[in-house]
Parts: sequence; structure tokens; C-alpha cells
Amino acid sequence: MLDSPIRFDPEGPTLRLLDQRKLPEEERWIECPDAASAAEAIRDMAVRGAPAIGIAAAYGVALALARPPAGGAGDAGEIRERFEDAARLLLAARPTAVNLAAAIERQRGRLSGTLAAGNPAGLPERAARALLAEADAIAAEDVAANRRIGELGRSLLPAAPAPTRFLTHCNTGSLATGGYGTALGIVRSAAESGRRVEVFACETRPRLQGARLTAWELLAAGIPVTLITDGTVGALLARERVDAVVVGADRIAANGDTANKIGTYQAAVLAREHGVPFWVAAPFSTVDLATADGAGIPIEERAASEVTELSGTRVAPPGAAAWNPAFDVTPARLISAIVTERGIARPPYRESLATLAG
Ligand code: MRU
Repeated sequence: MLDSPIRFDPEGPTLRLLDQRKLPEEERWIECPDAASAAEAIRDMAVRGAPAIGIAAAYGVALALARPPAGGAGDAGEIRERFEDAARLLLAARPTAVNLAAAIERQRGRLSGTLAAGNPAGLPERAARALLAEADAIAAEDVAANRRIGELGRSLLPAAPAPTRFLTHCNTGSLATGGYGTALGIVRSAAESGRRVEVFACETRPRLQGARLTAWELLAAGIPVTLITDGTVGALLARERVDAVVVGADRIAANGDTANKIGTYQAAVLAREHGVPFWVAAPFSTVDLATADGAGIPIEERAASEVTELSGTRVAPPGAAAWNPAFDVTPARLISAIVTERGIARPPYRESLATLAG
């Protein structure tokens, strides 16, 4: 089973990404030799999922320092300039997942510390090493956080002899993270503890992360998965026993409002209507206490062609307009619990998230 969709080859140095646009037909790894190619891979969704794009961006800025231009001054000013050029490119790639901005900010802090500390000799090499080490740390911490989220999330599950049945949206597994997964981490952790689990997965229009990626990952883990179209959520919750809806997040505001893949909000409304708990699972790096509520979360809008075409084939008549926000915001009042590696937040989230933030 896949450990991580992100690998770093220090020899290149090169960032290698499992190309998620090709899955499940083809397991192809692409190579990003510089920050510009890493930014393009994020923008075009070769790598996707909030934690995964944060990690890819962390390696992206590290690459900018690891491959200095011939004849560069190599002093602190020039190193900082190269970092900021790369950071600008990466930050512009996708706006909603706060993990990307948080990873760049963390790398900026690490760079400042490195530039302030040492003597000028060997500064470019030391700065590059420091940022690579920080990117490795961000990736490792994400996997550890996901495993903890999985353990904590298990405590929410009903004690039932029958299989535990989840509904999920988009993809929140190893592919979307440094490894293991957030919402799917809870599913995996439950299965690993010996529980029988079943997953209903929304296909997740328009990019089909549920149909292509979640189904692929769950089958690889030996977990039964039933795909539904996004419009089937109401019928499913009305007719079948589902123990919990569990989803990931791209950004959680201070009051608990949560941005996640388009279609999450309607699943939350339907879960409330049918008395099904609705859980958000995310590393604490997805919590953005600087954004007061969901109204302040930037929502990425993607190309209309993602809606008017299916896998490159036009399905809408020429002239039909399409609106394609990649994310929606689920109001905190519809969320039963937010599972992070620091603990499980319950409403009111402004208080519980602040407490977890310490
Ligand atoms: O557009 P995507 O595929 O990057 O959207 C991903 C999601 O919405 C995930 O649910 C979210 O990033 C959490 S991934 C652990």
C-alpha cells in the first residue's frame, strides 16, 4: 500500500510526486526539479489534498535554495530573495488550503534563523540543508498527526457488532497527506483495530477524487467501498444506516467553520437532517485561528472546463456557462466534532479550538 505520494531525492535534488491526475489507471511519478515545477504540480493537481500540498510547497522552497543559480552572490540577501520568489509562486498555486501558506511561513522562520545564526562561509549550503530538514520534519509530523487522529477518532465510534459504516467525500487518505490520511486515517485505524468497516464514498465531481483516489486507496487497504454520485447522499442517509459522515478540511476558521471539497456542505446539511454525526478530521496545521469565520476563507474557483467536460470530453453544449468553486464552507453549527492530533474539539469551537491551540 502507498506510504506517501511525496518523495524527495537529495541526489537530484528533486521532488518526486505520484501524479494523481493519472490514477487509478497509471501509477506514474513526476519529477519537480525546482519551485516553479512544484507550483505547477500543485496548481494542476498532480499533488492535492491540503496537507500534501503543504509538504510539496515546503520542498518547493527548499529546492529554490538547493539549486542555486550559477554566479549568484550567495549572500543572505540573495538567498532571501530566491526564497521569496519561490514562495510567491507556490502561494499563488492554490489559495484555500491554509497548510500551504503555513508550510511556507514555517520555512521562512527556519530560513531567518539560519541566516541570523552562522558565519557567511557556506551559507547557501547551510540554508538549503536547513530547509530540506524542515520539509522532512513537516512531512514526518503530518504522518504522526494522522496516526494520532486515527486513534482519537476511533473513540467516537459506536460500540456495535455490525460493521461501522462511514460516508466520506473527496480523498483524505495517504494520497492527500504525508501518509496514512485524516478522515480516511480514522477509517483505517478502525479497520486496523479489528473493527469491520464499510465506506460509502462520494464520487466528488468534478475531479472525481472519490471515485478515482478514495476507492483505489480503500481497496488497496482491503476496506469495502461503495461509490455514490454526490447527488445520492440524501437518498443514502434516508435509506441506509450510516454511523458517521467523516471528511477532511482545507481550512478551519477560529469559530469552526470549515472549508472542504465542494459538496461537503450539502452532505453536512443532510447529515443533520438525518441525525447522523458529521465529523471533520484534520491536523492542527489546518486550523487557521487568524481567520475568524468561514466568510474570511478564500475559495478557489477553477476552470469551467472541469464542469463542461468529463475526462476531456465535452458534455455541455457550447455556450453553457459553468461555475466551479473547488470548495465550500460548512458552518460550525453542522459539525459534531473536529478531530485533530491535539484532541477532539467540540462546540463551541471558538473555545475548544483556542484551548487546543494552547
Ligand atoms: O481539490 P483537492 O483534491 O485538493 O481537495 C482536497 C480536499 O478537499 C480534502 O478533503 C482536504 O484537502 C483534506 S485532505 C486530508
